[in-house]
Amino acid sequence: MSAEKLNILVLPGDGIGADVIHAALPVIEAFAIPARLHFGDIGWSFWTEEGTALPERTWSLIAKADAVLLGAITSKPQREAERELCQRLHKKNLRYTSPILQLRQKLDLFANVRPCFSLQDEKPFRFCIVRENTEGLYAGMDYHPVPEDLYSFILREKGWENTAKEDLSCTLRLQTRKGLSRIFRFAFHYASQHKLPRVTLADKANVLRSSAHFARELFEAEAKRYPQLQADILNVDAVALWLVRRPEEFGVIVAENMFADILSDVGAAVMGGLGFAPSANIGEKFCYFEPVHGSAPRLKANQANPGAMFLTIAMMLEHLGFQQEAEKIRAAVKAVVREGRFLTYDQGGRASTGDMAKAVIEHCLQPQQRAAMNQRQKLQQLYAFNSAEVSDALDSCGVEGALPGIKPLANGRKMVGPAYTVSYSPYRENVQSFKGAANYIDAVPANSVIVIDNEGREDCTVWGGILTQTALQKGICGTVVHGAVRDVESIRQSRYPLYCRNYYMRSGKNRVYKSGEQTPVLIHEVKIHPGDIIFADDNGVLVIPARLLDEVISKVQNIKRTEQKIVAAVQEGATLEQARQDHGYDQPWRQQDKDK
Ligand code: NAI
Ligand code: MG
Repeated sequence: MSAEKLNILVLPGDGIGADVIHAALPVIEAFAIPARLHFGDIGWSFWTEEGTALPERTWSLIAKADAVLLGAITSKPQREAERELCQRLHKKNLRYTSPILQLRQKLDLFANVRPCFSLQDEKPFRFCIVRENTEGLYAGMDYHPVPEDLYSFILREKGWENTAKEDLSCTLRLQTRKGLSRIFRFAFHYASQHKLPRVTLADKANVLRSSAHFARELFEAEAKRYPQLQADILNVDAVALWLVRRPEEFGVIVAENMFADILSDVGAAVMGGLGFAPSANIGEKFCYFEPVHGSAPRLKANQANPGAMFLTIAMMLEHLGFQQEAEKIRAAVKAVVREGRFLTYDQGGRASTGDMAKAVIEHCLQPQQRAAMNQRQKLQQLYAFNSAEVSDALDSCGVEGALPGIKPLANGRKMVGPAYTVSYSPYRENVQSFKGAANYIDAVPANSVIVIDNEGREDCTVWGGILTQTALQKGICGTVVHGAVRDVESIRQSRYPLYCRNYYMRSGKNRVYKSGEQTPVLIHEVKIHPGDIIFADDNGVLVIPARLLDEVISKVQNIKRTEQKIVAAVQEGATLEQARQDHGYDQPWRQQDKDK
């Protein structure tokens, strides 16, 4: 892969399409795929506002993209399409064409690929429906009333001589040598690439005898080139039945447009529903990837299953050469299904799109990345509280976590993050040179809180304007200084959360030296280990020992609930004493029996 970044064009579209795309896309970042994501316009709102669901600017983005990822699109019948056009576009005689059809036709995406595989371990299967996308029964020759020449042709056929023109409609199943040959070539190539041992043509040879014979000869010619693969031709209805009963027996199933359209919905059902069915549309030069489902306008926001989108992203990554990452995504979706904790409504669960997506992404991460993500979530929960509530929770754990005498430099800030500790000691002799005592900041990870122990010294400073700007740049949460700081005006303006004993103007540069980094520090009676959680707001600074984080979160939640209940009871007329007694004020961190 070249060092150039890949261009992935994302077209979120309508309804749940946008939901599932936004929930699942972070997986690309989690794998650090060297790709740049671009976003393009497509869908119903562009039809109603601009008179086209696929504007010209989106076509230019498509032309430049290495891969296109589509959410879903709402399409409505012509009458609704006209009615919903904005005023200015009325009476312009615009005709709605589904952007999906436009893409398939303009880019000549002749193969629609729909892999189906078991998400549960019992009865494993793996097959793939390859649908011819450009001709067959969906070739567009669908008539009512039928054109004159076709009508006179029909009248010549035995049995149909007396049918009135208005009493019949006609659809032609058009198949060409070119169309059939390339879809069969694709099907066998796909089977051999994906190690699927069998290719089945699903047709209807006992009824559509001539066209099926034409297809058969072309299919057999291609099969000869793959002697290692089993090749057979079955009736499409039988394939539907056997797909349900014995999905494990199939490999690639190739069929003309409509037959495969129907079979692929059977395949989706066998796999566990539309919520898990991915697809790709592939041509000689272009391709795009989309879940099989539509925009499901009846679903509420954040309700849809993101599984199909994850599996679609896996197909796209595989196409771009990221085989391992694709496998990891599939394994992650399977794991989330197996565990059953974060499933959306269609799988009998209660998780939101976002919850399930997070669970899948978490499975894709390295253990280290996973731990970091877990912690970020916990810290986010903690952020909802204030230091008084957190302090009560710490008290109940028998821990003294408060740092007395350390105050916010400016009010209205709040920070929560793991401590990155630094300590300073005074030089014993006079030194003239600056020893780079602040260079530690390059190593501090984003989202940390820097905790500096200058032994409470207030006659020189160990934090100032440049460090503040660097910390902001690096996404560091804030700084606690057991000592003094300077450049207070610019720091206040920057809104960087800074907590310190005092401020002064003399530099610490040639007065103190960095005597420790990421080693435990002792501030008053409180020992702070690297990684302990620092929580600070206008009340001051608290230290939560890392090992107590879960306990503190659970207790602080109970405390807040108890306090809310007491306030509510008083508002309803209870005395404070009664309310406190009723709601267990003596031990507010305990979950009350009534809540259990
Ligand atoms: P649909 O696939 O949008 O939804 C059918 C039903 O399946 C939904 O009501 C829902 O119960 C369920 N479902 C689908 N995806 C789900 C998911 N990810 N999680 C949970 N449940 C899910 O098909 P429908 O209702 O026929 O079409 C709705 C709109 O979508 C129409 O405007 C249609 O034109 C469009 N559509 C677009 C497609 C595309 O963008 N390629 C494909 C199919 C339909
Ligand atoms: Mg369909």
